[in-house]
This record gives sequence, structure tokens and C-alpha cells, in this order.
Amino acid sequence: MKTLLVTGGAGFIGSNFVRRMLAEHPECEIVNVDALTYAGNLENLLDVDSARYHFERADIRDRERVEAIFDKYEPDTVVNFAAESHVDRSITEPELFLTTNILGTQVLLDAAKRRWKLYPDDKYSREFKAGVRYLQVSTDEVYGALGKTGLFTESTPLAPNSPYSASKASADMMVRAYHSTYGMPVNITRCSNNYGPYQFPEKLIPLMINNCLNDKPLPVYGDGMQIRDWLHVADHCAAIDAVLTRGEAGEVYNIGGNNEMANIDIVKLILRALGKSEDLIVYVQDRPGHDRRYAIDNTKITSLLGWSPAYTFEGGMKETIAWYLDNRAWMEHIVSGAYMEYCRSMYSL
Ligand code: NAD
Ligand code: TYD
Repeated sequence: MKTLLVTGGAGFIGSNFVRRMLAEHPECEIVNVDALTYAGNLENLLDVDSARYHFERADIRDRERVEAIFDKYEPDTVVNFAAESHVDRSITEPELFLTTNILGTQVLLDAAKRRWKLYPDDKYSREFKAGVRYLQVSTDEVYGALGKTGLFTESTPLAPNSPYSASKASADMMVRAYHSTYGMPVNITRCSNNYGPYQFPEKLIPLMINNCLNDKPLPVYGDGMQIRDWLHVADHCAAIDAVLTRGEAGEVYNIGGNNEMANIDIVKLILRALGKSEDLIVYVQDRPGHDRRYAIDNTKITSLLGWSPAYTFEGGMKETIAWYLDNRAWMEHIVSGAYMEYCRSMYSL
């Protein structure tokens, strides 16, 4: 890995990944391509100060811009985090999810193919430059919902239920097709729900922490008994790094920490940690099409690539809650919209 192009690096997982890769790969240049949507926040990267880090504000759907960025930096590795990522928003605005998550992925695949194919004019050639790799960051949500038992393996059929997960599944199919048709060296990772620092407060854990701190109601969807398999964001980033360095081209890897929790138990854990009353909980109307349970079988990545999670949920949540307490200005800038002003002032948006 000489030049790593990360898309969506100003978001939650992408910013944690940029930080990790700068620290773990001192030989590597990193180009962060991000459109700075509402979810992109340059304050997530304020502490990143390295001559090896480059930021390009660009939309992955903009073919001309993306090709120009590939020509400028000549990346050998691409990790695509850029996406519309919130299920609730996908229910009200599905089209945006289709254009960013599917068409944006295809633009990136094309730009990589254009630079990486050894004989670009030969339609039948499947030879790519040595050492190149495209990694698509996907989600366990593409597999749909589980009943009370069972786990998602890499061969579980895709059965997405929300416009978000349907768009992610479609993008996965395009990545698979570029491997099958053109021979492009790709990987797809499918991770379970992440938590940790810099998560946008529309997602369960930071939203509940923020509401708790402000004595606002905690909206629990339905009966609160939906189950997610929570993983600390640093463990997700380490798993992607393991796939980039040791993964086999063309393979899918599930990522999860064997940590199933019901939403209501997480909400109560946060209330206890912050010394607040359960009276703040408000049960609200359920999300339409709400998946009941997700759980990952991580045997493939643990046994073949030697990755395993470093965090326990208890330790990870303690550290995460402490982070949000220590970084209240970060949260306040999001709630007030001031982070957008910062991005505008940095890049004259
Ligand atoms: P996020 O919403 O915090 O960040 C998304 C980033 O992508 C933002 O910085 C945004 O500005 C950028 N972006 C959006 N549209 C863009 C476009 N058209 N062009 C360029 N940049 C654009 O999301 P996240 O939670 O960090 O998730 C990152 C990736 O990981 C997503 O692909 C998501 O599907 C996947 N994922 C997330 C989780 C999770 O629990 N958060 C779990 C599994 C997989
Ligand atoms: P979320 O963080 O949106 O992630 P995802 O939908 O991708 O799993 O939600 C996690 C779970 O928490 C999900 O079952 C929906 C639920 N939830 C609530 O009960 N209340 C909320 O306010 C939010 C945002 C989520």
C-alpha cells in the first residue's frame, strides 16, 4: 500500500480509519475524498496533522472529479466508506441512497479500473497492475433480519429490507461483478453496528447519550427488543486493515464481535452510566420494516486473517461515554450546525 484513497473519511468510521492508517502505515499516503454532506465533519479530523494526509472535497458520483483525483494521486488501494448511512433517512429519501450508494460505487469502480487495468483497451484482458485493491465497506444489513437463532455467514443469501440496505446490497453486487467480469482485485466487508467516538448523533448510541446529557426524552422504537451485534469502531478499522493486508482478492469477510444486545438494554446502560432516571425513556412508533435481529458469524475473518476484537462491550462503552463527556463541544457544534460553518470556512463551500 503506497497511496490509499479513502472515501467518506470525514464521517464516523472513515475518520477513525484515516487516523488508524496514518499511525499504522508510516509509509502510506492517504487521500480522503469526501463530499461533506450533513454527515461529513472535518472537526472529526482536527487532530490529524500529517504531510501524508490529503483532503479532496468531491462527490463520488462526479465521474470527472473522481477520475481527476485518481490521475492526480494514482492510488493503489481504495476503501469506499462514502455512503448515505442512516436507515431512517432512507425511508423518507430513498433516491439519494440509490445514487450515492450504488452509482457512486460504480463511478469509483470505473475510475479504479481505468487506472489499474494493464491493457485498458483490451476488452477481454483481465490483468490488473500488481498490488492494487478495491475494498467496499458494506454492512450486515444486506442479509436482512434473523429470527431468534442463527448467524449471518458470508454465504447467507442477501435479503435487504430497507432502502438503505437494498442500496448497499446493490453496490455489493456491482463490486462482485467487477471481480467476475473484469478480474478486478476486490474485497467486500460486512460489519455489524459500530459504536465509538465521532459518531453522528442520529444513530442510537450517540443520540441517547446526547439526549441523556440534556435531560431530553430517549425515543425507543417499538418494544426496544431489537437486537444488534455491536462492535467498537476501532475493531472495525483493524479488521479492514487486516483484509487489506492479508485478505484474498474476490473474497467477502463478515466482521462482528459476538456481542448481541437488545436496544433497550443499551439505553438503560447509558442511563445508569450517566446517573439518569429511566423515566426519560419514551416508547415511540416502530420504524417501518424494522429488522428484528442481526448477528454475525465471524469465523472466516478470525480463522483466516487472525483478526479478533480487542474491545469488550463493557470497556468500549465506558470509554465511549467518557469520550462524549470529554468532547461536549464537538457534539454541541453538530447540534447547533456550527460544524458546517467550520467546513465552509475551510473549503469555501
Ligand atoms: P457516516 O454517515 O458517518 O459517514 C458517511 C461519510 O460519507 C460522510 O463523511 C459523508 O460526507 C460522506 N459522503 C456521503 N455521500 C457522499 C458522496 N456522494 N460523495 C462523497 N462522500 C460522501 O457513515 P459511517 O457510519 O461512518 O459509515 C461508513 C460506511 O460504513 C458506510 O458505507 C456504511 O454503510 C458502512 N457501515 C456502517 C456501520 C455503522 O454502524 N455505522 C456498520 C457497517 C457498515
Ligand atoms: P441505528 O443506530 O439507526 O442503526 P441501524 O438501524 O443501522 O441498526 O439504530 C440501531 C437500533 O436502534 C435500531 O434497531 C433502531 C433503534 N433506534 C431506536 O430505538 N431509537 C432511535 O432513536 C434510533 C436512532 C434507533
